[in-house]
Amino acid sequence: MTLVHRLGVLTSGGDCAGLNAAIRAVVHRAIHSYRWTVFGIKDGSLGLMNRPLQYQELSLDLFNGNMLRMGGTVLGTTNKGDPFAFPMPDGTTKDRSGEFIEGFHMLGLHALIVIGGDGSLRILDKLCQLDNVPMVGIPKTIDNDVHQTEFAIGFTTAVNVVVDALDRLQPTAASHHRVMILEVMGRDAGHIALSGGIAGGADVILIPEVPYSLDGVVDKINDVRREGRNHALVVVAEGCKTEDGLPATVAWSGDQSRYGGIGHYLADKLAARVNAETRVTVLGHVQRGGQPAMRDRLLASAFGVHAVDLVAQGKFRRMVAWQDRGVVDVPIAEVVVGSRCVDPQGPVVHTARSLGIYVGEFG
Ligand code: F6P
Repeated sequence: MTLVHRLGVLTSGGDCAGLNAAIRAVVHRAIHSYRWTVFGIKDGSLGLMNRPLQYQELSLDLFNGNMLRMGGTVLGTTNKGDPFAFPMPDGTTKDRSGEFIEGFHMLGLHALIVIGGDGSLRILDKLCQLDNVPMVGIPKTIDNDVHQTEFAIGFTTAVNVVVDALDRLQPTAASHHRVMILEVMGRDAGHIALSGGIAGGADVILIPEVPYSLDGVVDKINDVRREGRNHALVVVAEGCKTEDGLPATVAWSGDQSRYGGIGHYLADKLAARVNAETRVTVLGHVQRGGQPAMRDRLLASAFGVHAVDLVAQGKFRRMVAWQDRGVVDVPIAEVVVGSRCVDPQGPVVHTARSLGIYVGEFG
């Protein structure tokens, strides 16, 4: 069994609410129960790749009561710069994976806990395998698209933001007889849109996993009117395509693009056909920040404790997960197989459709 007394922890990928709560749980368990020294690695894998190394010893006195409540990550993070093909200033890419492994050993670490989404866990697992670096993963992402876990840290808080937005949009929609379109995050998975839309009383929910037609959306809005309501709420995931199958993206940096624009596309198309003012709200990074909701604090705490226990038991290449009302752990290999998307035939889509919500065309 690996003898551990110097543990590293890092956050990787997009930030979300609950990361600090997870770091806090790791530090508490590692120090209180095992008397280890914990090092927080800065800015994801960059902290071990850069020279000098960028890290901070995480002692209990740092946790003065705020960490559980704070959004973001005190360690910093990055969702760019794959160490195997790191973008260099001259436009080329360089394999910097060896610098990461070297950094791990320079800091004298015995094991690493990685808090990340499916993409980060895949890359970090591949990195760690280069030199059998003992690693345990903790799932986080507002998108909730990590396989083998019912919930990832950050999802609940993000959905609460969506619900809060719909609670605010509905009265103004009613006052002005408008169709309000809310564009939410979620990249390739529609979990945020689907859960937020149901809980926030949307009439239409469009997600990347289910094809839709503009006719279907127009029919639903007209039905709502016929039933006596003067306004409608539409939730659309950023990863939805236009009706003719084109991704809605905006130019970003260099020749790269990112999601954006599907809400405005829909507003333009619908305005001409539903005889009502259509307005768009793009929630963006508001969904990632803020104080973590209760469930994200609970998940983060349970995940942090269990991850440290796995390290203590010498169980590596595993990810902690939430299944059947509790924390379990699963092989990382079963996780890093892409995004866990919404099942168009699954129970949540069924609930939405049973409520009369238009969730695209039946497959
Ligand atoms: O994967 C999490 C996520 O918030 C997605 O929902 C979103 O598309 C993406 O990150 C945004 O990333 P960035 O912070 O780089 O804009």
